[in-house]
Amino acid sequence: MMAQDKEEGAAMKKGNKLYEGKAKIIYATENPDLIIQYFKDDATAFNAAKKGTIAGKGVMNNKISTKIFEFLAAKGVPTHFEKNLSDREMLVKKVEIVPLEVIVRNRAAGSLSRLLGLKEGTALASTVLEFCYKRDDLGDPLINESHILALNLATAEEVETIRKYTLMVNELLSKFFANLGLELIDFKLEFGRCKGKIILADEISPDTCRLWEVGTGKKLDKDRFRHDLGDIEEAYQEVLNRVNK
Ligand code: TMP
Ligand code: ASP
Repeated sequence: MMAQDKEEGAAMKKGNKLYEGKAKIIYATENPDLIIQYFKDDATAFNAAKKGTIAGKGVMNNKISTKIFEFLAAKGVPTHFEKNLSDREMLVKKVEIVPLEVIVRNRAAGSLSRLLGLKEGTALASTVLEFCYKRDDLGDPLINESHILALNLATAEEVETIRKYTLMVNELLSKFFANLGLELIDFKLEFGRCKGKIILADEISPDTCRLWEVGTGKKLDKDRFRHDLGDIEEAYQEVLNRVNK
C-alpha cells in the first residue's frame, strides 16, 4: 500500500511543458502514460479573435470537469481522468487526440443558429451531432463523416465508437444537469486514442457546454464572455455550486 502510494506520488511530479493551448497547459509526468492538465483563467472566443481572462475560471473548470468525469466514469463511459491533483491540476491518461470537436445540440444556439437561421433556443425535433475538424488555422470547419474518412482523421469504427459514447454522454449529462436545474443546450467533446481504445478526453465545463437555468433561461456558461453579458465569474461559480450539491 505504502509502496503504491509512493509510486503514484512520483508519477504526479510535474515534468516538462508538452503543449500550451488556449485554456490549458499540458505537462509530462514521470509516468509516460500520464500527463497533467493545468487549467488557466485565459478565455478566447471566435477562434481567438476575442481574448480575455475570467478570474478563477481554471480552478472552477478543473473542479467541474472532475465531478463530471467521475460521474461519467461511474456510468461506464471510459475517460482519460485519473485524479485531481490540485486546484488547477488534473492527472489524466496520455492520449493521442482525435482531431475532431464533437458537438451535440439539444436546442439551436451559437453557430447552428447562425448557419441555419434558427432563433436561439429553437427546439430541435431530434438531437444534432456535428463534427468539426480541429484546425485553428482553418477556424475548426464543420465536416462530415466522409471528410473524416477521406482525410484519415479517424476510422469508420472509431467514428462509430465516438458517436456511441457522445450520445451516451448526452443522455447522462442532460439528466445530470436537469437534476441541478440546468438545461444542457449543447456541448463539445474531444476523444483520444489510448492503448488502441477510444476514450473521452479534454474537459467538460462551462467553457465547453451551454447551460441555461431552468425557469429563467439565464445563461450560465462561456456565452457570458463571448457576448459580454456580465456576471461571468458568478455564472461559473453557480455551476460549480450546483455540481457540488
Ligand atoms: P458553437 O455553437 O459555437 O458551434 O458551439 C457549440 C458548443 O461547443 C458550445 O457548447 C460551445 C462549445 N465549443 C467549444 O467547446 N469550443 C469551441 O471552440 C467552440 C467553437 C465551441
Ligand atoms: N475556444 C474557442 C476559441 O477561442 C471558441 C469558443 O469557445 O467560442 O477560439
